[in-house]
Amino acid sequence: MINGTTKVVGVIGNPVGHSFSPAMFNAAFKSMNMNYVYVPFKVEKENLKYAIRGAKAFGIKGINVTIPHKQKVINELDKFSIMANLIGAVNTIDFKNGKSKGYNTDCVGAIRAIKEVCDLRNKSVVIVGAGGAARAISFQLAIEGVNNINMINRSPKKAKSLAYDIKTLLSADFTDNSKLDEVTIDFSHIDLNFEYGSLDELPKSIANADILIDTTPVGMHPNIDDEPIAKHEEMHSDLVVNDIVYNPIETSLLKEAKKAGATLIYGTKMLLYQGAESFKIWTGKEAPLDVMEKSILESIK
Ligand code: ATR
Repeated sequence: MINGTTKVVGVIGNPVGHSFSPAMFNAAFKSMNMNYVYVPFKVEKENLKYAIRGAKAFGIKGINVTIPHKQKVINELDKFSIMANLIGAVNTIDFKNGKSKGYNTDCVGAIRAIKEVCDLRNKSVVIVGAGGAARAISFQLAIEGVNNINMINRSPKKAKSLAYDIKTLLSADFTDNSKLDEVTIDFSHIDLNFEYGSLDELPKSIANADILIDTTPVGMHPNIDDEPIAKHEEMHSDLVVNDIVYNPIETSLLKEAKKAGATLIYGTKMLLYQGAESFKIWTGKEAPLDVMEKSILESIK
C-alpha cells in the first residue's frame, strides 16, 4: 500500500505506455514486501532537464531512461559510471544525498545472459548491427576478455566508425573527468581484435565464431516473418546465438539456430538482467529473478 514512506522509482521516455518495466518492478517489490512503487513518466525531449530536476526535487529514488533520452540525459547528471561514460548512454539513474548518478545496465544485462551459458574469455563474437545496443554490448564483451569481435552491419561504414570509436575509447585516459566517480575497470588486459564488415560477409564470420549476437530489430513484432539475418545452414552446433529482440520470445533467427543445434539465449534474459541490475542499484538487494521473469513472460503473451 502506498503511504508516507513509499519510495518512488520509474521510467522516463516517449513513448512509455508499452513498457514492461512497471509490471516487472512492481511485482518484484511486492514479492519482497518492499515499500516502493514504479511509475511510467512520459517526458517530451524539451522537458528532459526539468524532469531530472523535478525527480531530484520530489525525492524520487531512481529512474530508468529509455528512448529518446538515453544519450541526452548524460548532460543533466552530476555523476556517471565508467560504463555509462564509455557507452555514452544512461538507462538507470540513482538519486542519493541530492545527487544524481547515471549507469548503463543494458551492457551488464546482455553479458550476464551470455555468461550463463558460456565463458567469454578468448571467444570470437559476431555482432550484427552497429547501433546503441551493439555499442553497449561491445564494450562489455571487451572487458570480459573476448579476443575477437566482428561487427557486421547493413551499412558497413557505420560499423567501421563504431569499431574505431570503441578501440579509441578503450585506450583513452578518463582520470581527469570529474563526473566519473571512480575508474573502477582495469583496461590494461584488453587485447581485442575488432573487425567489421557487411551483411554478405556474415556466413563466413559465423563459421569462425563462438557467439552470434543479433542487435537489429529484424523479426521484432509485428514483423515476425522477417527473413532472419542467418539461416540454419549457416550456423553450427557449437554456436551460442543471442537475439536481443524479446517479442516474440522465439524469433525467426532463434528458430533457425535451434534447427542448427546451437545454444539459444532469448532476448527476455537481457531485459530481465538489466532490470535486475537497476533493482540492485536502487535497493542494494538482489532482485527476485523468478518473479521478474514471470512478469516479462506474462507481458509478452
Ligand atoms: P539500437 O540503438 O537499439 O541498437 P539502432 O541504433 O536503430 O538501434 O540500430 C539498429 C541496427 O540495426 C542498425 O545498425 C541498423 O543498420 P543500419 O546502421 O544500416 O541502419 C540495423 N538494422 C535495422 N534494420 C535492419 C534490417 N532490416 N536489416 C539489417 N539491419 C538492420
